[in-house]
Amino acid sequence: MDLKRRIESREAVIGVIGLGYVGLPLLMEYVHEGYQCIGFDIDQSKVDKLLSGRTYIKHISADRIGEMNRSGRFDATTDFSRLQEADCIMVAVPTPLDKHQQPDLSYIENTSEVISNHLRKGQLIVLESSTWPGTTMEVMKPILERSGLSYPDDFMLAFSPEREDPNNPDFTTKTIPKVVGANDAASRTCAEALYSAVIVETVMVSSTQAAEATKLLENIFRSINIALVNEMKMILDRMDIDVWEVIRAASTKPFGYMPFYPGPGLGGHCIPIDPFYLTYKAKEYDMPTRFIELAGEINTQMPYWVVEKVLKTLSDRGKPLSGSRILILGAAYKKNVDDMRESPTLKLINLFEERGAVVDYNDPHIPVMPKVRKYHYDMESVELTPESLSSYDLVFISTAHDAYDYDFIVEHAQLVVDTRNATGNVTRNRDKIVKA
Ligand SMILES: NC(=O)c1ccc[n+]([C@@H]2O[C@H](COP(=O)([O-])OP(=O)(O)OC[C@H]3O[C@@H](n4cnc5c(N)ncnc54)[C@H](O)[C@@H]3O)[C@@H](O)[C@H]2O)c1
Repeated sequence: MDLKRRIESREAVIGVIGLGYVGLPLLMEYVHEGYQCIGFDIDQSKVDKLLSGRTYIKHISADRIGEMNRSGRFDATTDFSRLQEADCIMVAVPTPLDKHQQPDLSYIENTSEVISNHLRKGQLIVLESSTWPGTTMEVMKPILERSGLSYPDDFMLAFSPEREDPNNPDFTTKTIPKVVGANDAASRTCAEALYSAVIVETVMVSSTQAAEATKLLENIFRSINIALVNEMKMILDRMDIDVWEVIRAASTKPFGYMPFYPGPGLGGHCIPIDPFYLTYKAKEYDMPTRFIELAGEINTQMPYWVVEKVLKTLSDRGKPLSGSRILILGAAYKKNVDDMRESPTLKLINLFEERGAVVDYNDPHIPVMPKVRKYHYDMESVELTPESLSSYDLVFISTAHDAYDYDFIVEHAQLVVDTRNATGNVTRNRDKIVKA
């Protein structure tokens, strides 16, 4: 098969559409492995940054972008007619929920439309965006066929979910095994060759649908276990038992248990969103998704629960929440990243402000609060000094960045509510700390 041979000999040209948290590192692996690569994005500013050796993702250094440029094997563009130059096209565009919590496939549809306008015989298209089982064949394929070419005779199609864990030092795109599914022999063979060329292990499944469902199972598993541990936290809190101590003890069991941790709410682009892609599709089959919805309910309640805890903590000290000054530490949805998507801090600011509190935030990775889908706060990160910390009625730890000096924070704060057990090792002034 010609494409397989071209992939194995590094002659194939690789195109990646969507140069975000998933698409950019993926493209970089192919450049690194010696492939000629073209990155496509609708965002001109990202293309300009890449071409001038700058970065827009904190954990991908400008040095690495510069190195990629100097290889002579990388180009980035907003000109989608250049899709014709690529032999293999991987698609990593967003798959959010719309305002009714329904899957928003408009990015996949628009991209498929654009590919369709430039599709040529023999190309392999692989969807990487997380989505409901059936999307590749039911949504993408018909749009691609508007080109006049037909699957599987004229072009190949596969699905391979992303397992990127931004800023995890233990795993990179290259070292995370990759699941790949396709529904015909040629697509399967070429997609396997494509990923095997750069990724440590390719796990083949029998269909695009099985590959799509694999990604959802992984994220639903996380969502449900996080909900479970959040429920445990609320129960144990009422019983005056420290959930963090219990998790630490349970984690010593060498089999049959893996730790998940509670928090102020779910964040990120995947865990709060992907489960509802399955819920949506299951309706077509008259199937309820009770576990998923129950987990969603509990996780959605968490910001309300921690705000109640703050209210009680303040009132126990004779202060009303209304009029209190609160400093939230951590705006990103998880520690050590600069990604704000679906961050619980956004909801928390809203809930505190609705209850009359005056809110500021600090995040070493997010100097200015960006405008996001649901919220637009005009806020800048407050510097952490002894004076600033002590000027707030309460310091609220939302994201446990490693950059924080928790001894310093507790020493100077009047009162600390900690939703991440970030102050677990602080030994002095423990009477100021309330876990939530
Ligand atoms: N971020 C993660 O850790 C992660 C992990 C696993 C899976 N995923 C999934 O991967 C997919 C991409 O997520 P991401 O985090 O990389 O998103 P992102 O927002 O970081 O990047 C998406 C990129 O696509 C571009 N884009 C949007 N519409 C486009 C279009 N029509 N044509 C070309 N480019 C377009 C955007 O400008 C952006 O640069 C999603 O389905 C997500 O669920 C993400």
